[in-house]
Amino acid sequence: MDGHIDLTRRFRLLGIDADTEIHINLFKPILLRHVDTLIEAFYQHLLKTNDGNRLLGQSDMGALHARQRIHWLRLFSCDLDPDYVRAALHIGDVHYQSGVAPYIYIAGYSFVRSKLTRLACAHFQEDARLADILVAITKLTSLDMDLALSAYTRDAWAHAKMQRPAKHKTVVQI
Ligand code: HEM
Repeated sequence: MDGHIDLTRRFRLLGIDADTEIHINLFKPILLRHVDTLIEAFYQHLLKTNDGNRLLGQSDMGALHARQRIHWLRLFSCDLDPDYVRAALHIGDVHYQSGVAPYIYIAGYSFVRSKLTRLACAHFQEDARLADILVAITKLTSLDMDLALSAYTRDAWAHAKMQRPAKHKTVVQI
């Protein structure tokens, strides 16, 4: 379900543009080298928490690792086409259906973003482009989090739309 996702509008709001892609491309080789360690650390961290253990205790962690790897590499390829949108929305739906509460999901994004920040700082500490790389990482992970979390609010938002003043109705989408 991606019929009413206007990516151009989101890109404008988030400031995702050609510069973002240039700076993500600088970071991509570092991500490729570290993505598996990052995902392993992510699940280790979650499984040490009650919430993570409860939600992931019965899951096939190898399969989840592989799925998540595909997703991050797709996002950081900047190939943000309808296939990416469909995948991001689907992943959001799976978490919603699995009972991953928003605070847990956001903590997951925070974990990943923090690791990416550290990686970028470690590899580009002497590089004037570091700030732009960090900004590009923030923009892309924010887009992904927005699409994923929209699964949680879509129905309530659509319903509430009926009761909003007309001036707000024209701009709301999930
Ligand atoms: C940080 C961003 C995250 C990404 C990109 C991500 C990615 C994924 C992907 C790709 C899947 C498989 C979806 C499918 O079946 O098609 C999945 C499933 C799942 N994820 Fe996440 N995940 C994230 C955060 C989290 C967090 C914080 C939790 C909390 C424990 C979590 C718990 C789960 C659960 C319970 C499932 C379903 C497991 C199953 O089917 O056995 N995820 N995730």
